[in-house]
Amino acid sequence: MKTWHDDDSFWKAWAPLLFTRARLENAPAEVDRILALLKVNPGAAILDLCCGPGRHALEMARRGYRVTGVDRTRAYLAAARRQAAKEKLDVEFVPADMRRFRRTRAFDAVINMFTAFGYFRKQADDLRVLKNVYASLRPGGALLIDLMGKERIAKMFNPRTWHREPDGTIVLEERWLEDGFGWIENRWTIIRKGRMRTYPVGHRLYSAVELRALLKQAGFTRVKVFGDLDGSAYDQNATRLVLVAWKK
Ligand SMILES: C[S@@+](CC[C@H](N)C(=O)[O-])C[C@H]1O[C@@H](n2cnc3c(N)ncnc32)[C@H](O)[C@@H]1O
Repeated sequence: MKTWHDDDSFWKAWAPLLFTRARLENAPAEVDRILALLKVNPGAAILDLCCGPGRHALEMARRGYRVTGVDRTRAYLAAARRQAAKEKLDVEFVPADMRRFRRTRAFDAVINMFTAFGYFRKQADDLRVLKNVYASLRPGGALLIDLMGKERIAKMFNPRTWHREPDGTIVLEERWLEDGFGWIENRWTIIRKGRMRTYPVGHRLYSAVELRALLKQAGFTRVKVFGDLDGSAYDQNATRLVLVAWKK
């Protein structure tokens, strides 16, 4: 059986819950903040790594950036391409695995949004992803990663939660920690139209300090840590873990 992140049926089933109308509508405001943190020049070349259906990639293309979106899920890329064609936007969407995608010195900036990092059981694969990004950046370029930090998870950890989506779908989430708080394993259950399906979902948990160390191991020289895309501090009030790492 395929691991959840390599399984098309997982991404198909969860798409309506991951890419809600609110998340899509929020993308332009997120792009404002991403660009403010990255300080890229107009028309810069930007890679959206694990771009999904392209909510950030498309918005950056609307603003005149030269954008490449990379993702393993072809159905997401097909949806992103359809939207780009509809709006006559010139965006490149590439089906590829983040463990392998590398384009030497091709980008001024790379973004990796909405917890699209830490999926692999071997941490060496996370490091490989960061080394690919480092090689794909031009000197002076920067990577922005946005995920849920270990500190926040420790603060709000709840072994079981459930909620109802606006369309009536019921979502049950069970979670537990493994590997000395190094990994979170979840069982996500959807009950939709009387049908129940359960998916195991797990990923590595990074504290700010741990991810900064991994970025430095990959070659990045300067790393800044924020508690949200708005550039606030990563402290007890942080909602996200956002790191910006520069290549010299
Ligand atoms: C939580 S979604 C985030 C999507 C997008 N960044 C956003 O903010 O809307 C994670 C994405 O990672 C992609 N993904 C998962 N494993 C991958 C891999 N090994 N290589 C490339 N993409 C991957 C999935 O297809 C999915 O689109």
